[in-house]
Amino acid sequence: MDRIRIRGGNELRGTIPISGAKNAALPLMIASLLTDDTLTLENVPHLADVEQLIRILGNHGVDYSVTGKRIGQEPGLGRTIHFTARNIVDTTAPYELVSKMRASFWVIGPLLARMHKARVSLPGGCAIGTRPVDLFIDSLRALGATIEIDRGYIVAEAPGGLKGARYVFPKVSVGATHVLLMAASLARGETIIENAAREPEIVDLAACLNAMGAKISGAGTPTITIEGVTALSGARHRVLPDRIETGTYAMAVAMTGGDVTLQGTSADLLSQALGTLGQAGVGVEALDGGIRVFRNGGGIQAVDVMTDPFPGFPTDLQAQFMALMTMADGTSRITETIFENRFMHVQELARLGAKIQLSGQIATVEGVRRLAGAPVMATDLRASVSLVIAGLAAEGETLVNRVYHLDRGFERLEEKLRACGAEVERISG
Ligand code: UD1
Repeated sequence: MDRIRIRGGNELRGTIPISGAKNAALPLMIASLLTDDTLTLENVPHLADVEQLIRILGNHGVDYSVTGKRIGQEPGLGRTIHFTARNIVDTTAPYELVSKMRASFWVIGPLLARMHKARVSLPGGCAIGTRPVDLFIDSLRALGATIEIDRGYIVAEAPGGLKGARYVFPKVSVGATHVLLMAASLARGETIIENAAREPEIVDLAACLNAMGAKISGAGTPTITIEGVTALSGARHRVLPDRIETGTYAMAVAMTGGDVTLQGTSADLLSQALGTLGQAGVGVEALDGGIRVFRNGGGIQAVDVMTDPFPGFPTDLQAQFMALMTMADGTSRITETIFENRFMHVQELARLGAKIQLSGQIATVEGVRRLAGAPVMATDLRASVSLVIAGLAAEGETLVNRVYHLDRGFERLEEKLRACGAEVERISG
């Protein structure tokens, strides 16, 4: 298993190109199941989760091809991939595939809408607490599907097709909103989703579906209206920049000091998180086509944070922010409200010398003057990168084990950090 070795202490200076968003690319790829035409996605990040989803979609009969690179284009960054689901050959998503990545469960929406049936294994994914699927089941039932659970599989059917309805989510869910958007696009009549997730990735999916011929309005607000159509066509769509990758590198610069331009991203995607960095004493400047993050000399102030659905502070940046707070001046309280067990990074940060007390969903972080490098273990995607950030600021060597979690969500992490002066290397095997 690969490991990452970091020699901490260097400031970061330079430019980091931001990749396409994993959390947008996955639902966009799944949307290709809605049409027999070709959906072309640009700026698709090269990540283990994307490769895994390509395999899962292939199992349903989706063909794909990757457009060749032009000379001078950076290899690996932002591929263009064409997906064609001419014939759906299988409406079952098996346990062996779905258990590896939770988002693959979302195929249930398009399969049900287009084929009027789906048999999808209950999901797996990051070990960050129980992640039920009740909201998916309830909302698809509201559109007229019959749903049963049979030996670990959700068996959904809508023999006469789905019918539009008004559905109020009792709790905000990104995944269930994605699925309902896709399902309602091919339902008969109008669907109104209340208390919808407002994440930029929802807006991106709605824009792509509209380019495919769907009639969706209100994405990005709590109320989304979808006028069902009988068929969708192909389209060409560019995946939006990854706001979590953006925030992660912003926090890395905050932690090490230095001056970095995050290129190809937008401050509008994460204004809450950038505002919090500003309060902590980090320089943040919105540029045309990017963000400049800098910290020259001054220390980091402790700031309290509570995670919330968009536009609140993202749970996917909680671990990285906690890493930053371990070296802040003062004590900060970090409250996790989205997932019940998303503090696995706490004991690993403690190995580097962080002082963190956990009480239920609240972590109290007492800033220390220095962290010292140590071997640590990556436990999930965002937790692993928080250890990398802490390692960049720690004195001496940090060895991050089990980095396959990082490869699920961060494209060419070591390369991007090295280009800004970090001493980071991957040890294979
Ligand atoms: C997505 C993101 C993930 C992010 C999360 C919250 C992708 C691929 N993943 O995950 O990175 O951390 O949003 O911003 O986009 N819930 C239920 N019942 C359900 C569905 C969800 O109770 O049927 C709960 C979950 O357990 C959780 C909360 O709702 O407590 C929010 O989860 P959700 O927004 O659905 O997260 P994901 O879509 O899985």
